[in-house]
Amino acid sequence: MRPTTTDEIRQAYLDFFREKHGHAVINGAPLVPENDPTVLFTTAGMHPLVPYLLGEAHPAGNRLVDVQRCVRTQDIDEVGDSTHLTMFEMLGNWSLGDYFKEGAISMSFEFLTKILQIPVEKLAVTCFEGDSDAPKDTESAEIWMKLGIPKERVGFLPKAKNWWGPAGMTGPCGPDTEMFYWVGEGEPHGNPAVNDPDWMEIWNDVFMQYNKQADGTFVPLAQQNVDTGMGLERVAAVMQGVSNVYETDRFAPIMAKVRELADHDDVRHMRIIVDHLKAATFMIADGVAPGNVDQGYVLRRIIRRAIRSARQLRIEHDGTFTPSIAEEVIAQYGDAYPHVRSKAAEVLAALRTEEEQFSRTLKEGMKHFERMTEGAGQTIGGTDAFHLYDTYGFPLELTKEMAAEKGLNVDEAGFAKAFEEHQALSRAGAEQKFKGGLADHSGETTKLHTATHLLNAALRQVLGDHVFQKGSNITAERLRFDFSHPDKMTPEQIAEAERLVNEAIKADLPISYHVTTVDGAKEEGAIGVFDDRYAADVKVYVMGDFSKEICGGPHVARTGMLGSFKIQKEESSSSGVRRIKAVVSGGPSEIEVAKEV
Ligand code: ALA
Repeated sequence: MRPTTTDEIRQAYLDFFREKHGHAVINGAPLVPENDPTVLFTTAGMHPLVPYLLGEAHPAGNRLVDVQRCVRTQDIDEVGDSTHLTMFEMLGNWSLGDYFKEGAISMSFEFLTKILQIPVEKLAVTCFEGDSDAPKDTESAEIWMKLGIPKERVGFLPKAKNWWGPAGMTGPCGPDTEMFYWVGEGEPHGNPAVNDPDWMEIWNDVFMQYNKQADGTFVPLAQQNVDTGMGLERVAAVMQGVSNVYETDRFAPIMAKVRELADHDDVRHMRIIVDHLKAATFMIADGVAPGNVDQGYVLRRIIRRAIRSARQLRIEHDGTFTPSIAEEVIAQYGDAYPHVRSKAAEVLAALRTEEEQFSRTLKEGMKHFERMTEGAGQTIGGTDAFHLYDTYGFPLELTKEMAAEKGLNVDEAGFAKAFEEHQALSRAGAEQKFKGGLADHSGETTKLHTATHLLNAALRQVLGDHVFQKGSNITAERLRFDFSHPDKMTPEQIAEAERLVNEAIKADLPISYHVTTVDGAKEEGAIGVFDDRYAADVKVYVMGDFSKEICGGPHVARTGMLGSFKIQKEESSSSGVRRIKAVVSGGPSEIEVAKEV
């Protein structure tokens, strides 16, 4: 049967790659990447797989398939059109040094034309046109034509379009071939290199055979990988014969809920609400709390944007609006994402609090507006209008409306200028985040990663078995480890944990890993997060008799390579969770990595 619903397509993809092509199904990772300081959110299925694309062995084998929830903040301004989403589901299959172009393209073609039964006439593809870094990809083009894609449906495009990655500044990347579905008027014609707007991208096969270096050069990887990504929501729109993702089966009921509350039909604002509150629901379920920095700031911004759109639609927003939409999101996605359902109470509470707080801020803004306009001239200045926007969350439209009621104008050009300056600043901030590259698997981060395991084990010795990892973030300079513990650690406890780690380092314990099942790992007493993030088979890293923990690696081969360990800070992270920042120093600059036994 031809899969048409979102749930059927998701399942059909996993089944196809598992049953027909021997892929292991792995679980998608949380939206907030672990051990990766260079990106705020998981933006593609390949993110959690970077170590394996670089050559680390994956416990589930060298053919993998999964569904990965992704957030792309760079697309937020496009939201409201028919295809862009802040959060989307990426279906992906990987070859880690196994099949390459021929295999990947023929599997993609088979899935599109045999399983989804999309007529070949409605498909077009693009390939990399070549430059000084890599040659023109005529090989992929020929494979497509051999399978039945006519020559005029094959376009060649430069690196800006047909090259994917690295996700940060450095890491795995390569030329790609993209697949498109006809969305133009009348009979299909041309290809995306000729008439781009007529074609909607649905899938991307990336041939990851290069590692981009910090100096901008592309070094061939030891293995030739395939990394693919298909947009589930777009494919659902294709299969359901609708022109935009908001009319697909899982989105439509959420849209209907918003429409019920809205005073008038304004599709763009309704879509923004649906998209943003869906993304917010998934972020909170993955542990993000609204705040003023990093992921928390993105979350706060999208909740506030949803509320601003609600204002435009004259929807009440005193604490009940965002939770009521989130309830519908959870109803639609709770089966496919059980963790979202089990976190429902946290999601609704966080939204309610944020909505109440923002409503109070808006009221404060009204007061500020009154003071500002008292005895003002004819025009509200651009900086003032921007202050209302930035501090009190007033969209320009709202300020204009309120100004008009008082017979005043707003300096819109001045507002635009202030807005642009602010954007330039926040872009600069965002770019900082990418400094250092996505997969900084340098010796220093590997050492700190090993130190994190030792610290985790030491904390359990000092504080007790209630200590579990709640988060980990490693840069080349320091580790940051969040763990469950109700109280502030005493200076004695901190000193003791530090001493235990240094003792383990001095003992120069050997480190190795073995592959086992999740249950097997539990039985042998390995610690881990034990949620649905693990695949059936996992790697267990053993550090002498000091630590045994489930982890993807890599780690150093002996604890002695860490030199010495120092805790710099112990502080509160959130309720019931403490945070430690620590460093290592004095180890060798060249490290050896731990091997399988
Ligand atoms: N990583 C590739 C993408 O995101 C598949 O398009």
